[in-house]
Amino acid sequence: MRAVGYETTGDVDVLADLVVPRPDGLAPDEVEVRIVRSGVNPTDWKSRRGALHMPIGPGKPQIPHHDGAGTVERVGVDVDKSLVGARVWVHEAAYRRLGGTAAEYVAIPAAQTAPLPENVEFDTGAALGIPFMTAHRALTLIEGGPAELTPGSLAGRFILVAGGAGAVGNAAIQLARWAGATVITTVSSPRKSQLAQAAGAHHVLNYRQSSDAAADIRKWAPDGVDAVVEVAPAANVDLDAAVLKPSGVVAIYADDGQGPLSLPVRATMTANARYQFILVYTMPDDAKRAAVRGIQAALADGHIHIGEAHGIPVHHYPLSQVREAHTDLERGLVGRVLIDVTS
Ligand SMILES: NC(=O)c1ccc[n+]([C@@H]2O[C@H](COP(=O)([O-])OP(=O)(O)OC[C@H]3O[C@@H](n4cnc5c(N)ncnc54)[C@H](OP(=O)(O)O)[C@@H]3O)[C@@H](O)[C@H]2O)c1
Repeated sequence: MRAVGYETTGDVDVLADLVVPRPDGLAPDEVEVRIVRSGVNPTDWKSRRGALHMPIGPGKPQIPHHDGAGTVERVGVDVDKSLVGARVWVHEAAYRRLGGTAAEYVAIPAAQTAPLPENVEFDTGAALGIPFMTAHRALTLIEGGPAELTPGSLAGRFILVAGGAGAVGNAAIQLARWAGATVITTVSSPRKSQLAQAAGAHHVLNYRQSSDAAADIRKWAPDGVDAVVEVAPAANVDLDAAVLKPSGVVAIYADDGQGPLSLPVRATMTANARYQFILVYTMPDDAKRAAVRGIQAALADGHIHIGEAHGIPVHHYPLSQVREAHTDLERGLVGRVLIDVTS
């Protein structure tokens, strides 16, 4: 089968077009998925560079990409045979596994797949995994809040999404909005402001233009926000403290490289504030299952979309241009990067 992979970590040039054997015998719990779209995330170029300290496991090459969508071709002996032919999205395909979705076929535990409704395109399926599971986790850490998102489960809650034009930011806006929250988001430019509005944010603040972002956010959320979905924890530490409700949570899913997070202990303690870190790979299994169920429910409700009109432009690359896709994402391309595996 055609694939893209690397045997050593480093520069983009370590990525090579490959012809490798199609997955052989399946483990009892596995399915083989013929991949139509492979979704690229920042974690993929970071892993390729060796920045995440996730060594390539025994055997080579490492085929990258966790997210993807396609159809089930074969199933292991313990998997329901009626799944053959089903359209599915997959998640965490390359986590501690060599076989990511930048390939024509992937063998993966059936538990890491979920059905894709007939009216949902493969593009959307390949965009779900990492961003939407991360966002679901962030939104289900609220004090007294739901462990799993459903319509109305965040009614009455105020959520601040930092960076609402990012992939995770967009997913957080879409899910929070579906769950009934009031959604406030920050962006750095008028173009990103348009995207965040298209995603469904109620209030968008250009943090580069605001002289007092906390005061601006407090106008929309006078009692503060229940949760911050945070991409830039060190840069936003003062802002988050200033807008958080008592017992609020700052859900941190990225390291903005701005240095260690330094918190005023007394003020944080007085507010009973919580700082919860998230890594999608290592979050509790219950939280992963809840995220998949929540995403499935939102999909079934017709509430998850990608594309410019929904605040997240989509950029397609053929399998032969995964290198370019990684480079463009690393340079800050706005939107979701998808690989057309069949072209
Ligand atoms: N922990 C996990 O499990 C997990 C999961 C997914 C992603 N991540 C990580 O999270 C980061 C974002 O991923 P992504 O796919 O969403 O990337 P992305 O699409 O490139 O989005 C990143 C966003 O961060 C925003 N941003 C940067 N500095 C900001 C600031 N000071 N205040 C508010 N927003 C700020 C940028 O928007 P502006 O230009 O508007 O500021 C940009 O839209 C990456 O580092 C990725 O590796 C981690």
